[in-house]
Amino acid sequence: NLGVAITGSGSAAPSTCLDNETLSQLVETSDEWIASRTGIRQRRLAQASESLSAIATSAAKEAIAMAGISPLDVDLIILATSTSDDLFGSACQIQTQLGAINAVAFDLTAACSGFIFGLVTAAQYIRTGVYQNVVLIGADVLSRWVDWQDRRTCVLFGDGAGAVVLQAHQSDRLLGFEIRSDGTQNSSLNLSYSPQSQQLMPGVAVGKGNFQPITMNGKEIYRFAVQKVPEVIDKALFRANLSVDAIDWLLLHQANQRILDAVADRMNIPSHKIISNLAKYGNTSAASIPLALDDVVRTGQIKNGDIIAASGFGAGLTWGAVIFQW
Ligand code: ACO
Repeated sequence: NLGVAITGSGSAAPSTCLDNETLSQLVETSDEWIASRTGIRQRRLAQASESLSAIATSAAKEAIAMAGISPLDVDLIILATSTSDDLFGSACQIQTQLGAINAVAFDLTAACSGFIFGLVTAAQYIRTGVYQNVVLIGADVLSRWVDWQDRRTCVLFGDGAGAVVLQAHQSDRLLGFEIRSDGTQNSSLNLSYSPQSQQLMPGVAVGKGNFQPITMNGKEIYRFAVQKVPEVIDKALFRANLSVDAIDWLLLHQANQRILDAVADRMNIPSHKIISNLAKYGNTSAASIPLALDDVVRTGQIKNGDIIAASGFGAGLTWGAVIFQW
């Protein structure tokens, strides 16, 4: 069995920054309401001229540089996103922008769990000996898809990208994982196609491309996350043959500080082990885990050998956890 290690990380976010105070001029809300309920203070927004693939490419370049490989060495690029520039996918555009001409590239969609699902997917290609060097990017621009008049959702999200390089490695550093989905609760979080029809001929009405802005039942998502995330981390720990005490860092999808705190509390994980960048970026969906990872890697908080429990959860519903060693 071949081992897998994460050997580089990178991140990128658009330069435009919208803080809670300024957002309060758009919708009826306040810094106090947003910060006390979510931990978010500001978020980055991609302007209409900025593409998801450009932000994702910047993050990937940093990860490739840290791993010390050339774009020509990359065998596979996986872009975890729900908001590609093109419904056909954006991974191939990124491949071209990176100059990774030897790589195959595709998109993977699992909402805010996309990065975790991507880690597991990437690892399978390496473990089977098919590929040696994989670039995994989590990137989203949900600012394009929220209703900026709906204060229940527009205050939560921000744009960004994070990336890692996974490589075949003698000692296996991906220690355990578990991924799950449950479509019965699909309606609690959607960015759904809005069926408008165009009549082609009598008896034939096809749809016309159009999506509705994000809708969310916040309380259901909160309950779901706080229940399922500890369960799935426990399962991944079991597979890794480790106990909760072995965790050095809890790296959850950055949806909401309250969810981070409640999960840590339920698992008896001390709060100083929680990685959080919500205040700076808000909820960046598939980007949130690698963006937060890159932050703590570059500030030197995470040391070689540290055990990280990463968990994503979101629309689908989907959720999952990966235990890995840095
Ligand atoms: N500013 C001011 N008031 C607001 C705002 C706002 N931005 N948003 C809602 N309110 C008001 C509501 O109108 C409501 O007022 P009312 O009682 O007069 O009707 C009141 O605040 C309470 O509204 P709720 O929707 O019940 O707010 P809640 O206390 O549930 O908090 C929140 C909302 C923070 C989203 C919470 O449900 C939560 O943490 N959910 C977890 C889901 C989450 O984090 N989702 C992120 C995206 S999904 C993902 O990444 C998986």
